[in-house]
Amino acid sequence: MDLSAGISFSFLIAIILCSYSQSSQLYLQPVKNDHAYFTGDNFFVTCFTTDDNIEKLTWTDFESNPISTDHGRIHAEHAEGDQVGLRLVFTNVEIEDAGTYTCSDDQDSVSFDLTVYRAVSFGDTPRVQHAPEGDTGVVLCNVKSDPKPVVNWYFEGTKISNDKKYQIHPDNHSLKIHDLTRDDAGEYKCKAFVFTHLSSQIKDFDIKLHVQYAPEIIGEQQVSMYTSVGSKKNLTCTITADPVPIFQWLYDEMIIHNNTKKSVIYDTNNSSVLQIDIDSKERLGEYICRASNPLGDKEVIIDLKEGNPPAAPTLEVASDKDTVKLDIKITEDMDIDEELKVDGFKVQYILTMSGSWNSPKTLEFKIGDVYEIRNMSYNTKYIFRAAAHNGAGYGNFSNEVMHETPALQTASVISSSSTKCALSSALFFFIIALL
Ligand SMILES: *[C@@H]1O[C@H](CO)[C@@H](O)[C@H](O)[C@H]1NC(C)=O
Ligand SMILES: *[C@@H]1O[C@H](CO)[C@@H](O)[C@H](O)[C@H]1NC(C)=O
Ligand SMILES: *[C@@H]1O[C@H](CO)[C@@H](O)[C@H](O)[C@H]1NC(C)=O
Ligand SMILES: *[C@@H]1O[C@H](CO)[C@@H](O)[C@H](O)[C@H]1NC(C)=O
Ligand SMILES: *[C@@H]1O[C@H](CO)[C@@H](O)[C@H](O)[C@H]1NC(C)=O
Ligand SMILES: *[C@@H]1O[C@H](CO)[C@@H](O)[C@H](O)[C@H]1NC(C)=O
Ligand SMILES: *[C@@H]1O[C@H](CO)[C@@H](O)[C@H](O)[C@H]1NC(C)=O
Repeated sequence: MDLSAGISFSFLIAIILCSYSQSSQLYLQPVKNDHAYFTGDNFFVTCFTTDDNIEKLTWTDFESNPISTDHGRIHAEHAEGDQVGLRLVFTNVEIEDAGTYTCSDDQDSVSFDLTVYRAVSFGDTPRVQHAPEGDTGVVLCNVKSDPKPVVNWYFEGTKISNDKKYQIHPDNHSLKIHDLTRDDAGEYKCKAFVFTHLSSQIKDFDIKLHVQYAPEIIGEQQVSMYTSVGSKKNLTCTITADPVPIFQWLYDEMIIHNNTKKSVIYDTNNSSVLQIDIDSKERLGEYICRASNPLGDKEVIIDLKEGNPPAAPTLEVASDKDTVKLDIKITEDMDIDEELKVDGFKVQYILTMSGSWNSPKTLEFKIGDVYEIRNMSYNTKYIFRAAAHNGAGYGNFSNEVMHETPALQTASVISSSSTKCALSSALFFFIIALL
């Protein structure tokens, strides 16, 4: 370096230093010149000045329009804190907001470029989707973004890969499921990834898939039921379907209407109960329960026959501490129809003191249960009775049995008082020792 070059170099430094001391300098935070966001994002960029005079600072957009300091979607506002700065605030950023923004005062200016990508959106994708069993099912995910997203699918939390069963369409991102079964029903997640060299975004969307199927009978397709004249009988048919089926009852090829004198129909999503008043033998015969949905229909045939409820059982009662043991016996023909075999018992009891059967306690047992009632009061007089049940209903009650539960055993009381005794005698000896 020769002398003259050295001098002019120092002169340059002097000028720079000089201009530094005299004028402001501006800088941005975050410290970068390229900002990329997705539509809908909220963010701000702050322009700081080394000068104390904030009034000189202005932000201008890509068309050199100054940005006002009111509360517009894009506006400028004073930064909080020790440093003097002006924020440029973007709310709900839009594609049209992209461009160069400049912060300047009377001496300096700094700029940044804003890029805005179209955020991931799932548009009109239905939250609940339906597809019929057996066919190839399609789960839609109308996902959009710019740049285009990469889409992954999940079923009940597990990532789905393209294979024989599943295919993800490369353009519309819909998920194709081959040989759709009811096991394919459940929670699906459509997860979209967008990335550029400046930014990235991940968003997901949950979809519930219902697999629809034609009505399906739960139980027998043809059954016999029994009833006796003078009683009410419930005929029940259980048929599941998706969509929920429409039930219809038929007798003698005629539709049975609801809420007539003789019949009331109660439907749930998967069953229908026809309650019939059996006022004569004419109510007996073949009833048909038909369930249908757009995918098909099914019929259950119920042959309603006359049968008697069981004869009254015999009853004996014993006690073991607070448990009452019931000995219930029935006599039954060996060749009786399956539907008319006794399948359970109803046991009722009252306090002997009350003497009335108006509001008895009632317990139901199935054949094979242990016929016991636990936690009965000690030293109390009860009256018990039992009735047997078969397909035609409950029969007559047994003989009434009066029974007194035993008195409470005092063994535990004795043991606790003897402990107390031992304790007090120990105390007694201790006192003596002290004396
Ligand atoms: C997805 O696109 C393919 C081909 O473009 C088309 O066959 C299919 O029906 C589309 N699926 C949906 C759900 O739009
Ligand atoms: C018959 O069905 C109706 C409606 O479901 C129910 O309230 C009633 O308790 C049933 N009767 C018998 C004897 O099961
Ligand atoms: C039939 O009528 C009864 C009584 O009004 C009602 O509770 C029931 O829901 C009706 N059943 C159907 C299937 O409409
Ligand atoms: C009956 O089906 C409807 C429609 O599928 C559903 O919204 C409702 O929760 C179901 N009810 C019951 C008790 O399952
Ligand atoms: C019928 O639907 C009820 C709820 O509505 C459900 O608890 C029951 O498990 C269903 N039965 C069958 C056989 O699907
Ligand atoms: C039930 O008792 C009544 C009246 O005592 C009697 O007429 C009827 O035959 C009895 N029923 C049976 C099944 O024993
Ligand atoms: C009997 O009483 C005990 C204790 O109070 C209780 O844990 C138990 O469930 C009761 N058993 C019955 C059958 O009520």
